[in-house]
Amino acid sequence: STTVRVSPAVLGFAAVAKNLNDIVTVPEGYSVTVMTRLGDPLAAGVSAYANDGSDDNFAQRIGDHGDALHFFGLNAAGSRDDTSSTRGLMVQNHENLNVQYLHPNGPTTNGDGSRPAAEAKKEIEAHGVSVSEYKDAGDRTWSYVQDSSFNRRITPNTPMSLHGPAAGSAMLVTKYSSDGTAGRGTINNCANGISGWATNLTCEENWAFYFRRDASDATARTPRELTALSRYGVTSTSGNFSWSKATPSDDMFAKWNATILGASAAQDYRNEPNQYGWVVEIDPYDPASTPRKRTALGRFGHEGAFVQIAAGQPVGVYMGDDSRREYLYKYVSNASWDAADGNASDRLAVGDKYLDNGTLYVARFDADGTGEWLPLVFGQVPNRPATGSAPEYVFADQADILINTRLAADALGATPMDRPEWTAGNPMTGEIYLTLTNNNASNRPLNGTDAANPRHYGDPKLSGSVSYGNPNGHIIRLREDGDTTAATTFAWDIYLFGADSTDADPTNVNISGLTNDNDFSSPDGLYFSRKTNPAGQVNPLLWIETDDGAMTDRTNCMLLAAMPGTVGDGGAKTITNKASDGSTAQQATVVGAAASAANLRRFLTGPVECEITGIDMTPDGRTLFVGIQHPGEDGTPAAPTSHWPDSQAGSAAATVRPRSAVIAITKDDGGVIAL
Ligand code: FEO
Ligand code: CA
Ligand code: CA
Ligand code: CA
Repeated sequence: STTVRVSPAVLGFAAVAKNLNDIVTVPEGYSVTVMTRLGDPLAAGVSAYANDGSDDNFAQRIGDHGDALHFFGLNAAGSRDDTSSTRGLMVQNHENLNVQYLHPNGPTTNGDGSRPAAEAKKEIEAHGVSVSEYKDAGDRTWSYVQDSSFNRRITPNTPMSLHGPAAGSAMLVTKYSSDGTAGRGTINNCANGISGWATNLTCEENWAFYFRRDASDATARTPRELTALSRYGVTSTSGNFSWSKATPSDDMFAKWNATILGASAAQDYRNEPNQYGWVVEIDPYDPASTPRKRTALGRFGHEGAFVQIAAGQPVGVYMGDDSRREYLYKYVSNASWDAADGNASDRLAVGDKYLDNGTLYVARFDADGTGEWLPLVFGQVPNRPATGSAPEYVFADQADILINTRLAADALGATPMDRPEWTAGNPMTGEIYLTLTNNNASNRPLNGTDAANPRHYGDPKLSGSVSYGNPNGHIIRLREDGDTTAATTFAWDIYLFGADSTDADPTNVNISGLTNDNDFSSPDGLYFSRKTNPAGQVNPLLWIETDDGAMTDRTNCMLLAAMPGTVGDGGAKTITNKASDGSTAQQATVVGAAASAANLRRFLTGPVECEITGIDMTPDGRTLFVGIQHPGEDGTPAAPTSHWPDSQAGSAAATVRPRSAVIAITKDDGGVIAL
């Protein structure tokens, strides 16, 4: 037999130049269609978005800060069809807010320090997840269907059930759930994961900062609780947006106050923070279904959850915890994959089978290019030693380990990383890629480098402590030993280093040899073209999205396309790291493949002050969906700094407020994107 090479030898588009224009720029021969935007109505009879701060009812509108997205296919009859490239359900996370644009003149506070309830409700409901139907009227003429019966908003108020080993733990009991098996809502939904059975995994990332804890809580809590709250950063005395201080009061506001107020956990919301930090499974095809929080996958700042499905192997889920010096995790199901489950009609029951029963691991990266998955299993995790003012932490049971995953990973000696963001798996080789977006000198000083986080240098174009460390980030990749998700050991290398191609010290900074056509900073979103896409075969394209980072003075955030190769195909190289005063040099050996114009190229740049977030393609590879998050995030209602997406069509009035939105990118000749 003959292997037909479908993927290209070189990328089939001309690189987009770095720029600061207030539009999405795509290569010549491509077009942009703006799809669902912040505030767009998701039901018949809901008014068009006025975009002047007067709109409400975000439980029936597209939320703010669109992040990860996925296109779930539908056939003409309205049933699931994974092969459909003309009709589907767009499921997108709504991570956070450009709160200034949600109200006529920005958020307000009453004279007594309380927040108006109507404002707080709007802010809460603009978070969560949206499901909206997308339809191609012919030749990739895309629009969304306002009155589709599939449309849905999942918000921080939507009822959820807790599943897996921690469900029912006393640490999950609240005024809302006296047995610790139910909760409401999801928050700060960042990246995602797609199961092999057509459900969406939404990941709760920076949930900790929404909670308020009054000063009195420090004396009311046990030392164990204080250790956990501090490790997760639940330390604010107001919480993001001060929702708990909304008046007139309501339970949807009160639950953001984690201060001990009552006689028992069933009388207040002291445990509400434990209800967040999970991976949540949603069935997009059943708008009436109750989302399930999968506690077996651990509780941390979940960035994403790439699901690896391979015949005869356990289901593997690869997950980053995005904070400085946090870890990479893997969940492995007890059951091996049965392909019949991929088409089951009770999709959440399939989730119960694979996502409630398994083992959670955390990664240790060793200097010799190997690594080990350390099991987070009660009885195998030592006590976490006393650290600073925190006393030794003795784990009580498996629920304790899953709720306080970070403490258990500390105890096992996992490798702290330079902010683990998205994970993605190469559909041909099974290799797993992980973005490490950046780190700084105050969190990871020169003597804190290691083989997996090897860089420490200064970006001369920046100032202050953030400019030193690893300001541009890198992408690491690993291959499981035996090519199975069940492996407890792996091989790894560094695939790519972010850098400014004009840096004055190219040898030690621009290690991947980037040029003006492909230099980037702070990789975040990561996605492989689907196997059904001609660009997903033989040598699948890897798509890399960036978030702010060290180059936003010269260019808006971007999307790059790459042909990545395999672990171990790059050479080793010795570099010199420098401390911020330039006085100390440190030798480090890094292993990584050099990029070239042929295998890495900038495909898109976004509008002013945006981040490029979600990404997916139709199965045929002819439409690329991309999330544009928080354009104009530094502006004010009186002086917006971006007018996108209105600006995409040309000029927009200076008062037009920006909106996060999904775009559909198509090739004018109808061809496969990037080939
Ligand atoms: Fe929500 Fe780590 O990005
Ligand atoms: Ca991210
Ligand atoms: Ca980021
Ligand atoms: Ca963001």
